[in-house]
Amino acid sequence: MRVYCAADYYHASRVAANIISAQVIMKPDCVLGLATGSTPIGTYEQLIRWYEKGDLDFSQVHSINLDEYRGLSPENGQSYRYFMNTHLFDKINIDKKNTFVPNGLEPDPEKACRDYEEVIHAHGGVDLQILGLGHNGHIGFNEPGSAFEKETHCVKLSETTRQANARFFASMEEVPTEAYTMGIKSIMQAKKIVVIVSGESKNEIVKKAFHGPITPEVPASVLQLHNDVILVGDEAALAGFVQ
Ligand code: GLP
Repeated sequence: MRVYCAADYYHASRVAANIISAQVIMKPDCVLGLATGSTPIGTYEQLIRWYEKGDLDFSQVHSINLDEYRGLSPENGQSYRYFMNTHLFDKINIDKKNTFVPNGLEPDPEKACRDYEEVIHAHGGVDLQILGLGHNGHIGFNEPGSAFEKETHCVKLSETTRQANARFFASMEEVPTEAYTMGIKSIMQAKKIVVIVSGESKNEIVKKAFHGPITPEVPASVLQLHNDVILVGDEAALAGFVQ
């Protein structure tokens, strides 16, 4: 694993955006695995700036997102489809037809997840996967205890995750209780993975995930087994973390 420690969030976002840019330049028709949460927003802002300058072309890029709340429509302001449209897709020249997010409105979880796995396989897998890190070590919505061998599946969100994400909703009751998420197995099949972490609140879990035992209790710890992971963070998140 390679680690890039940047001074602050802005610079960490630039490092992550640089890695994504390199991927898009080297393989213009690549498949990007994209993430939501507040952490990647700075990275997406940087990509938009470079696109606006004419330095990046997303016209042939395909994207496959990690997860979506079950029951939320793409128009719902809290859905991950809406997040991706507003924070990235609407601002670059990616063809929306080439962007994939699990279908939160598909009522049949098995069908929703099977369809999504088909999308991933039809694209030949993900070239570069972007990941944030939940405070309990979740990646995508794979909560502690998730089996490492799972592909896309429906999860019941833990109370801590619902509370962490409640800031985006009008009230706790509105936070969905379930989500469709790529599984650990699907994530681990990406050719390259970039994990972005920021802020002191992530410091403990970063140490646990990348220096602690590999266990389903800390889903991100499985990343220690991947042969091409880059950890990008600011000093607050990476304090005391030695490679
Ligand atoms: C959500 C997302 C994750 C994300 C996590 C951390 O639960 N499903 O993909 O990594 O939040 O979010 P943040 O970056 O806001 O801390």
